[in-house]
Amino acid sequence: MTLVTPRRAVLAAPALLMALTKSPSTALARAAEDGLAGVAKKRGITYGAALLAENLADENYKRALDREAALLMPIWEGKWGAIEPQEAVLNTGPLKQIIDWGAAEGKAVRGHTLIWHESLPEWVTKGLKGGRNAGISIMASHMDRVLGFTKPFIRDWDVVNEPIADPPGSDTPQSGPGDLRRTPWLEAMGPDYIQQAFIMARQRDATLRLTLNEYGIEEDTPAAEEKRRRLLSLVRELVMKSTPIDAVGIQAHLQLSNPFRPEPLQRFISALQGTGLQVLVTELDIRETWNAPQDIAARDALVAERAYAFASTAVEAGVKTFLTWGISDRYTWLNDTPGVAMPSGRKHRGLPLGEDLSRKPMWQALARAFSGGS
Ligand code: XIL
Repeated sequence: MTLVTPRRAVLAAPALLMALTKSPSTALARAAEDGLAGVAKKRGITYGAALLAENLADENYKRALDREAALLMPIWEGKWGAIEPQEAVLNTGPLKQIIDWGAAEGKAVRGHTLIWHESLPEWVTKGLKGGRNAGISIMASHMDRVLGFTKPFIRDWDVVNEPIADPPGSDTPQSGPGDLRRTPWLEAMGPDYIQQAFIMARQRDATLRLTLNEYGIEEDTPAAEEKRRRLLSLVRELVMKSTPIDAVGIQAHLQLSNPFRPEPLQRFISALQGTGLQVLVTELDIRETWNAPQDIAARDALVAERAYAFASTAVEAGVKTFLTWGISDRYTWLNDTPGVAMPSGRKHRGLPLGEDLSRKPMWQALARAFSGGS
């Protein structure tokens, strides 16, 4: 016997249908509604993606990014050559575009990057030839200007990017003494340029998260192992000297041609955490091999497998901020950068969404890693 009157039953059917479509039964279907950021958030993880401001003109892309990411990171707009191309003349427009869209959609923005060897305008490289005092003054003025502008909007900055030299066996090994990369900053100021950068950033913003960001420290190769050793020894020294540093960013530009095992990465993350710092994943993307299988499904399965192995390791080790370097294969440096793009002209499929913005197995892999394997 039913207690539902015929009239109520008529009303109940569409309501039930609506309820069913609004709350699909499988975990994955729920995840699909939430986007990666929603899935990650349930585990206390902030998921985000890097972008170029100019790509916000693509409405479909913008919608997809909006759905998936809770945190934004400028690919170019915060780099020196973009934001201070001429001395003392800030070009903040493109960065502000990202900040404003983020604010409108409730997304935070992290800064990238204050002190790096790339993207330096000529006035900076020339100025750095003036030695240590010139270096200190150029660094300090840039931080005054840029942090002065971003302080109300950006609460996490990559203060120093890629300070470690690539060991023998890397794709681009550097010669030269010591663990540090030879950069115009090192040449001008000596090894202490790194600590100076963190001190200056802290002086300008007492509560900003100050991050050191590095690549080539994720995989199971002798070069990566040596680079991990170098980075860890730098971080330990910085901490020992009471340098105001809060976090280390693991870029994670992975390559399927390199082996990966969870254990070395796990050990590395917990060693970094052991110094009292937070560990973030800042730029995950995955390069395929030039001789990858032809079949798209087979290729995507390999990318997804690596994404899961990496992301689940990071998340289980306690990483709470996790970004990919882009969201879709539609816009990625993987396919337009010499030395990164495949020489065959074949396009890497190394981000969660395809060129058509549909979710690929890499998306499912990250969702699974963020939700603890379920
Ligand atoms: C890359 C951009 O994606 C490219 O478009 C640009 O040509 C070079 O820089 N590590 C970093 C990023 O910290 O800033 C780099 O971004 C990728 C490697």
